[in-house]
Amino acid sequence: MSKTLKIGIIGSGGIAKAHIAAYSKLPFVEIVAVADVIPGKAGQFVESEKLVGAAAYDGHQKLLEQDLDGVSICTPNVSHHITTVDSLRAGKQVLLEKPMSVTFQEALEMTQVAKETGNMLTLGFQPRYDPNMKLLQDIVQSGRLGKVYYAETGGGRRRGMPGGTFISKKLAGAGAMADIGCYSLDMALNAMGYPRPLTVSAFTSNHFGTNSLYHPEASKFEVEDFGVAMVRFENDLVLQFKISWAMHMDTLGATMFLGTDAGLKVTPAGKGPWSGVWDGAVGSISLFHDEYGGHTETPIPLVEHKLNLFDEKVRDFAEAVRDCRPAPIPGEQILIQQAIIDGVLRSAEARREVSIELP
Ligand SMILES: NC(=O)c1ccc[n+]([C@@H]2O[C@H](COP(=O)([O-])OP(=O)(O)OC[C@H]3O[C@@H](n4cnc5c(N)ncnc54)[C@H](O)[C@@H]3O)[C@@H](O)[C@H]2O)c1
Repeated sequence: MSKTLKIGIIGSGGIAKAHIAAYSKLPFVEIVAVADVIPGKAGQFVESEKLVGAAAYDGHQKLLEQDLDGVSICTPNVSHHITTVDSLRAGKQVLLEKPMSVTFQEALEMTQVAKETGNMLTLGFQPRYDPNMKLLQDIVQSGRLGKVYYAETGGGRRRGMPGGTFISKKLAGAGAMADIGCYSLDMALNAMGYPRPLTVSAFTSNHFGTNSLYHPEASKFEVEDFGVAMVRFENDLVLQFKISWAMHMDTLGATMFLGTDAGLKVTPAGKGPWSGVWDGAVGSISLFHDEYGGHTETPIPLVEHKLNLFDEKVRDFAEAVRDCRPAPIPGEQILIQQAIIDGVLRSAEARREVSIELP
């Protein structure tokens, strides 16, 4: 039997509106509280979003004192850690926006608190809800490719650098590698069953972000706008991961998996200057294999769907809370990609390969 879930929203900015829109489609969910650190902002949000009966709080602590089943955390990256840890400790189930955190240590503590409290920490990676993502995972894990020994993922916007909190090292942690790279990493790692990384050798740069010709906040630009990394995993598997927010090129290439029996190529669906970036919509999947001595390319039919992926991720979280299911995209899994991003930054700074230490 369904029950009414009481949900709170922490952070009342842009993405919070998408969470509200998704929750409003779920008859068993009620948004009962909103919090923001900017005094008065949550109250204005409650009014503008017409959240009748919802309470507004200046700061997340007061919100967490309320009787809530779960929270959506929609704050900038720098606040993901404190709001998540406090929410879990207050007995709330958590849907956290991407990327997981600013540092690996933060992410580690977040997963430890989830385990310790027995509360759910799930990450908001909406591309996972594209049925073609499942198709991709099924193909890679079916054994059809043989042993997968190499994968490549990432993408690039020709121009598409954000500003504000996204370009501050202290507030965002990383730039393009975390902001859009987390989606590419999740696609490739999820398809391969989240293998355990051992080392990373990376290079990052910010030639565009720090140039006032290309960025209006060039003097404040502290993160990478481009990065490339070679990640070595257990079982003789390597991944090349490359991302750009800005470049003089149309694309950084497709995502691919090379196996001993076949290869798989995946292209994103978008068009235009941001098209090279993985946003969850699959353009094509092709299998490359040999048949009777001939090089063969087989296009894999895509699953047609009209799903709103963002709505799906919010629905899955709410249903998981209602039905006492485990986290749909668990923090412990995403911790692995946070460790890779952390390794990328350390390696780029040290200009050498570094080890990835996971618990
Ligand atoms: N899944 C997606 O498609 C998607 C898209 C955009 C952004 N995001 C992610 O969502 C997060 C928020 O992005 P946004 O664009 O909505 O940012 P935003 O700046 O528009 O809104 C964030 C809000 O959080 C508030 N805030 C900051 N610290 C807080 C705290 N401790 N407690 C309560 N409120 C706090 C800010 O005052 C602001 O109102 C980022 O981590 C971003 O990466 C995800």
